[in-house]
Amino acid sequence: MTLWSLVILQAICVLEGKVFRSGIVNGNCCAREDYAHMVILRRNKRPICGGGIIDSNTILTAAHCLRDKSPNNYEIVAGGIQLSGIDGKPYRVKHIIRHTNITCPFTFDIAILKLESAIDIDNKTTAAIELNTETITPGTMCTVSGWGLTSANGTTLSKVLLHTNLRVISEPECEGYHRPDLIKPWHICTEAKDGTGACNGDSGGLLVCEGKAVGVASFVVPCGCGYPDAYANIAYKGYNEWIKANRYL
Ligand SMILES: *[C@@H]1O[C@H](CO)[C@@H](O)[C@H](O)[C@H]1NC(C)=O
Ligand SMILES: *[C@@H]1O[C@H](CO)[C@@H](O)[C@H](O)[C@H]1NC(C)=O
Ligand SMILES: *[C@@H]1O[C@H](CO)[C@@H](O)[C@H](O)[C@H]1NC(C)=O
Repeated sequence: MTLWSLVILQAICVLEGKVFRSGIVNGNCCAREDYAHMVILRRNKRPICGGGIIDSNTILTAAHCLRDKSPNNYEIVAGGIQLSGIDGKPYRVKHIIRHTNITCPFTFDIAILKLESAIDIDNKTTAAIELNTETITPGTMCTVSGWGLTSANGTTLSKVLLHTNLRVISEPECEGYHRPDLIKPWHICTEAKDGTGACNGDSGGLLVCEGKAVGVASFVVPCGCGYPDAYANIAYKGYNEWIKANRYL
């Protein structure tokens, strides 16, 4: 897939001349069982984002991955590590539920996908991940995984699922790197590390700390270039309650 088609397929948001694109730079691959919650989100059969299994019928992803309202255009692939989906199984999307407060740039960037048929959860290739509800102490080591671009100027998605370990940083520390007023309590950030981080196409994938889903990959400016990556903070009350209210619809 070329970067251009990625840009078209993946909703992006231009702010102050900077392109906020979501998407793992310098990642390596992984024990599948540790990432059995990860799914590929496809639109019209093309991979556009990641997502996480929260129960057999429900996927958590980023709202900016779903600008197109028609569930028929989407499917997820669960159980594989190949971007091609060859080692996984596709599931059709029945309903798209986006957080109603989404605005540019990526506030309330969280969405639920209800599937037409339940994922066969074997806890080896597929697993549901528990949602974090606690405040995460800055410095906690977490992992992010995805099939996104593998370099800031890259043009192709990773053919296999990659992961990388990053520490969570405090909100003020994160704010210090970004435009004033951009980072809010509904964000959680990982450290700014040159040459490592989430990238285009990793959007919607989950930040996992101590076995729980802590964040949904939202934006990176730019990838792996020393700015902290921002995720929707699953423990934020407005998200937690929204997920509870909508996941069984
Ligand atoms: C998978 O793990 C969950 C949670 O630990 C458990 O409830 C479920 O029975 C397991 N399913 C299988 C097929 O092992
Ligand atoms: C990416 O491209 C920009 C602009 O051309 C350049 O400044 C930057 O050094 C490049 N980054 C990498 C990792 O190649
Ligand atoms: C959505 O935004 C409105 C207006 O800013 C606010 O009143 C409401 O609490 C927000 N909803 C959630 C779930 O945070």
